[in-house]
Amino acid sequence: MKHITVIHGPNLNMLGSREAEIYGSIRLEDINQRLTSLAGELEMELRIIQTNHEGEMVESIQEAKPWADAIIINPAAFTHTSVAILDALKSVGLPAVEVHLTNVYARETFRHRSYIAGAVAGRIMGFGAESYLLALRAIQSILEKSALS
Ligand code: DQA
Repeated sequence: MKHITVIHGPNLNMLGSREAEIYGSIRLEDINQRLTSLAGELEMELRIIQTNHEGEMVESIQEAKPWADAIIINPAAFTHTSVAILDALKSVGLPAVEVHLTNVYARETFRHRSYIAGAVAGRIMGFGAESYLLALRAIQSILEKSALS
């Protein structure tokens, strides 16, 4: 059984009512349910956290270890601003996948920069809730490969 910490950043608790023309009508609870159900199929266990606070996100990353084998993270706005999140990911050294609901490159230029891009195994964006499910499958593949080597 693999253990995965899933971290949702600021304002993602508002999904469903937040800028529906951009993020659609799906709620964070729906995404979490879909993730939990896929995790069951893949024999993975999830710890899911949402925070609006940068320091809390740093702590969630630090506390992922030793329980978690990997991290899925959508830092939301902190993606584009936070050296602290980058440093936290580097310091735990767990394989991580960066997720975004939207294709940030089709949006404002300030969203084009990700501070954490260099510290993650890969980035999945633009597929709405499906981005998270694809990230879980990516993690499965990363962990399987590392078990073989
Ligand atoms: C987001 C994209 C970010 O630019 C934005 O600040 C978010 C959500 C996404 O999932 O598409 O809050 O991370």
